[in-house]
Amino acid sequence: MTIQRLIEDRYGLPLCDHFPQCGEEHSQSGHTTQPTEDNSTLRTILQHASARKFESEKIQESLMQLLFATAFSAPSKSDLQQVSVVRITDPSQRKRIISSNPKIAWTEHAPQFMVWCADNRRIRKVCEEKDYPFANDHLDSFMNAAVDAGIVMQTFIIAADSVGLRCCPISEVRDNIESLSMELNLPEHVFPVAGLCVGWPSESPSTSMRLPLNITVHVNKYDDEEALFRISDYDHRREAIDQPPTEKQRQPERFGIADIYGWSEDRARQYSVPLRSGFGCYIRKQRFNLC
Ligand SMILES: Cc1cc2nc3c(=O)[nH]c(=O)nc-3n(C[C@H](O)[C@H](O)[C@H](O)COP(=O)(O)O)c2cc1C
Repeated sequence: MTIQRLIEDRYGLPLCDHFPQCGEEHSQSGHTTQPTEDNSTLRTILQHASARKFESEKIQESLMQLLFATAFSAPSKSDLQQVSVVRITDPSQRKRIISSNPKIAWTEHAPQFMVWCADNRRIRKVCEEKDYPFANDHLDSFMNAAVDAGIVMQTFIIAADSVGLRCCPISEVRDNIESLSMELNLPEHVFPVAGLCVGWPSESPSTSMRLPLNITVHVNKYDDEEALFRISDYDHRREAIDQPPTEKQRQPERFGIADIYGWSEDRARQYSVPLRSGFGCYIRKQRFNLC
């Protein structure tokens, strides 16, 4: 499949439909302006899909180690490297982590399960050991560690996708954050960002269509004037290839059965109920200063 075709599959639109200016450019510097068809990195990322069904086959430990080595090559804010991952290898521990949340019961059968954590503790310990003040006890420390964790986890996912494995991040592990935190023995200034299931997929997961780039890519100034119209078009495009069955509509007793149950209807219904509203309290308990 061509790169162009992969983009169309991802967005339901050819690339040129996203941008007012689109066409061939000629590079003065000799660098490629158009992706070459054999660029495997682009292919891997464009074909990304989360998987929730896996073969029982184990992943070789040497491959797991290679994936971690690749993942931690990701960029890091100020080279602070504020990420830790806790691999859950004890099946009874995994059961305890997922038992209180029926929504993630399926993760029990993923060959590998881990929890990616933001880790602002290490730099604090380094400062303490040198007897230097840690003068950045504010919200930025929380955010930098969280962003780093997301980037490293995503790099792990790309690496795994590139060898034919599939993953699924699990923020639902944070539904019971206090017990997860205790189970993982997380100290102050460390918190879970997401779980991650990894395995050889037992079926090909479908490509999930993304918002068009004329909503997400802004030029010079943020501008969402057209966003709702464009989201409506996106809903129709997405619904044309992936209309969820009526029984999958969220909260029909509250919102009724929608004729067109697109992305925006589903996401708005999802976010009409509070989710993980205790997270801020937990983060404060982990001694982050959020001011
Ligand atoms: C931080 C993060 C947390 C996620 N948490 C969950 C989760 O708890 N349960 C789940 O089934 N999928 C979860 N996902 C997967 C998303 O649902 C998925 O990435 C999204 O629907 C897009 O689909 P795709 O990854 O197949 O392209 C999560 C993804 C991210 C990035």
